[in-house]
Amino acid sequence: MRVINVVGARPNFMKIAPVMREMQKRPCFQPLLLHTGQHYDDAMSRVFFEDLRIPKPDIYLGVGSGTHAEQTARIMVEFERIVADRKPDLVLVVGDVNSTLACSVVAAKLRVPVAHVEAGLRSFDRDMPEEINRLVTDSISTLLFTTSRDADENLLREGHGLDQIHFVGNVMIDTLLASAERAEQSDVLERLGLQDRGYAVLTLHRPSNVDDPATLAGIVDALEQVQARIPIVFPAHPRTSTRLQTFGLAARVARMPSLIAVEPQGYLDFMKLVAHCAMVLTDSGGLQEETTVLGVPCLTLRNNTERPVTVTEGTNTLVGPNPNAIVRESLKVLAGEGKRGRRPELWDGHAAERIAAVLEERGPKL
Ligand code: UD1
Repeated sequence: MRVINVVGARPNFMKIAPVMREMQKRPCFQPLLLHTGQHYDDAMSRVFFEDLRIPKPDIYLGVGSGTHAEQTARIMVEFERIVADRKPDLVLVVGDVNSTLACSVVAAKLRVPVAHVEAGLRSFDRDMPEEINRLVTDSISTLLFTTSRDADENLLREGHGLDQIHFVGNVMIDTLLASAERAEQSDVLERLGLQDRGYAVLTLHRPSNVDDPATLAGIVDALEQVQARIPIVFPAHPRTSTRLQTFGLAARVARMPSLIAVEPQGYLDFMKLVAHCAMVLTDSGGLQEETTVLGVPCLTLRNNTERPVTVTEGTNTLVGPNPNAIVRESLKVLAGEGKRGRRPELWDGHAAERIAAVLEERGPKL
């Protein structure tokens, strides 16, 4: 089975790593790795290939940044040529970024079956570009691999057949568990002068939080108060760094004595930071899942989540972007009232094996 595995942006890399590894182990697969180049900075891309020992991409499209239409269109034009040339039996896409949507649409129109890993997640919020990407990708995929039962229900409600849906667990957690020992060896805590459980980790990049000056200023107000209680390590996404500058907030952030702004971190250093912190403040999707498995309280600065299992079973609390709520909930966690949670069903490190087994059983003529 000739498979083109697609990655484009940072959160895709940890999802594809175990899938590629599993396909390389099984002689029935001829896997190719295609990187669209949606993320291209060393810190957003190259370091993950090294940390996760992902093979060098066989095909690199180098599309770069742009508006959603520009980026999506560039990927589609380039990917159409690749599919016509390589004639894969299957295109496998992960997650919900623009590369996921662009490549699935191209493959479906060329009548190449698409497998979507992490299918069925819904925030029910179409202001999020990722929600549009998830809806479109799922609607044209042949095989839908899910991380939780709620995703299966969403897909069934949207009219997908039971034969298309496979609840396999979470490939991002495969990578987390497989990398735990190596992450533990990172010296990032010493380098940043941090004590075990003596700091918080912050990530912020959603357009809804960082593209609106008033919302971002409110979050900065809240951070000012929280960092007075506990140091906050803040690996800043390029989009967020730019917005802080543009909105005149960068100097204020720089002046906060215990807000430690750092470059985006590699996978192993970042996972070490998360595993040993007192709490995470984030608007990321993947981090809600990783904190749940690591048993670290997570405050999500969004009003909704497409990953409800992290709230119902895990350590996640939705606090939204409201400054008072962020400070109030942070203080609760610091007072020892953070959620403990448990690991969701099938988040056991074997999701990629299940995916490969399903594909192998169905064979090249899906
Ligand atoms: C993308 C994904 C988002 C994911 C996030 C993780 C979509 C719609 N969004 O958002 O789901 O959570 O990745 O990071 O696909 N930039 C750089 N260097 C890079 C990449 C981006 O400087 O390597 C800057 C560019 O100025 C760019 C901006 O960051 O315009 C945003 O990048 P983009 O890929 O459009 O979206 P993200 O916000 O990263």
